[in-house]
Amino acid sequence: MSIHISAGPGDVADRVLLPGDPLRARWIAETFLTDAKEYTTVRNMLGYTGTYHNIQVSVQGTGMGMPSASIYVHELINDYGVRTLIRVGSCGAITPDVELRDVIAAIGSSTDSAMNRVRFGAQIDYAPVADFDLLRGAVDQAAGRGVPMRVGQVFAADAFYHNQDETYRQLAEHGVLAVEMETAALYTIAARHRARALTILTVSDHLLTDQHSTAEERERGFHAMAQIGLDTIVA
Ligand code: HPA
Repeated sequence: MSIHISAGPGDVADRVLLPGDPLRARWIAETFLTDAKEYTTVRNMLGYTGTYHNIQVSVQGTGMGMPSASIYVHELINDYGVRTLIRVGSCGAITPDVELRDVIAAIGSSTDSAMNRVRFGAQIDYAPVADFDLLRGAVDQAAGRGVPMRVGQVFAADAFYHNQDETYRQLAEHGVLAVEMETAALYTIAARHRARALTILTVSDHLLTDQHSTAEERERGFHAMAQIGLDTIVA
């Protein structure tokens, strides 16, 4: 039992899929896992453990944004011994190179969050990066399923509603594909504790064209991404 997760010893697998939405965690558990058991309902941030291809896997909601996600990532690693974490989420594209419904694997994450300035001091711009083996695994799994996967940098933003169009334009000019809200913290905390982490995202919004996926498109995209995440985490 940790402060924000009501699991007992051994209730959480050493590999965890991390959707932001706790109801997505339940959906992944019900759709893909065998014998899934709910191990936490604290704050309705649901977590489940079951088996996928005979390997124990957990799925834990993280909430939105780095302050919330950091709490779950920290406790999963430090209180439950989790070693492998794959975030499965959505993002807004900020470049014409990426289209609605594309799947992106985040090789690294820039951020406007103060979390790493608090951690390292203002002189240091730490570069949070994905675990290479997980990244390679996800690219292979996606190729095996015939799902084109873009690999590139993302921007982890503190604010969903913003007036940062010029910043996003500059980031896109420097190769950043999309904006989301968790990856810089996930990669930094995982690195600190020698755990492995990766973020996979589907493009749910296009910030340049103001296009948005329908609920059904999100559902379909999420299904493919969850499967790639699961195949990667048990490989
Ligand atoms: N901003 C941040 N996170 C997101 C977005 C966005 O536009 N779309 C999906 N996740």
